[in-house]
Amino acid sequence: MGLRILSLLFLPLLLSGAEGEPEKTDLGFEIFRDNCMACHLQSGMGIREMNAPSIAGLPRWYISDQLRKFRRDQRGFDDEDLAGKLMKANASALDERSIAFVGRHIESLPANQSRNTLDTPPSEEGEAVYQQRCLSCHGENLEGNRSERVPPLTRQQDWYFLRQMENFSSGKRVHFDGDELALSKQEVEAVVAWISETR
Ligand code: HEC
Ligand code: HEC
Repeated sequence: MGLRILSLLFLPLLLSGAEGEPEKTDLGFEIFRDNCMACHLQSGMGIREMNAPSIAGLPRWYISDQLRKFRRDQRGFDDEDLAGKLMKANASALDERSIAFVGRHIESLPANQSRNTLDTPPSEEGEAVYQQRCLSCHGENLEGNRSERVPPLTRQQDWYFLRQMENFSSGKRVHFDGDELALSKQEVEAVVAWISETR
């Protein structure tokens, strides 16, 4: 009886320390857990009600770029950009070292596989807009272009993309120098549906 209780008491210890190795700590995960998970979830899939997109699997150079932009008032600068402002407050708390570690962790998370949440079916129109107006920068497979600082469009949800397209056209966020992408509402919806259906 006494022995049984003893072994029960020590069972967790035995299991955790079985290999005699110290528990590994991952700084990137810890920074993510303490600063990001409340809105982006442990999986990095985001919470739509918080306007927080899925970021899992984004390349770390892009994550660093954006965290710096939020910090430097190059994104989330408009008073009416509430989602941008919310994220800006979080980016401001990070130093360069934390940015590097957290980016590595986010890059390692498996990407979102269901990004088309608005259920707009992908159309030929969407594909045509992409090929004519977006492919030269965002790439044949939406993979982006690191040397030009162009993000992949394979990780984030449609509702988030729609808001970014609105932000670009209203000046709440800068798309690229000399942005002349004048698209109709219908073209924007079509291209976003096509993009968010593509893996
Ligand atoms: C309080 C909620 C909240 C927290 C906490 C938060 N975020 Fe965000 N995050 C957002 C929102 C909202 C957006 C969308 C901003 C927009 O629409 O421009 C966002 C956007 C982003 C983006 C831009 C994605 C893209 O495709 O451009 C990155 C990267 C990001 N967050 C990383 C982080 C990291 C890293 C942390 C932790 C250090 C974090 N976030 C913490 C709410 C949050
Ligand atoms: C001249 C190059 C160029 C073209 C053409 C272009 N983009 Fe972009 N795009 C960029 C760059 C650079 C960024 C990153 C902006 C930043 O750092 O905030 C971007 C960012 C985006 C984002 C934000 C992604 C995110 O995760 O927040 C979306 C959405 C987007 N582009 C959609 C499009 C669509 C749709 C088209 C075609 C209709 C298009 N882009 C054409 C260069 C381009």
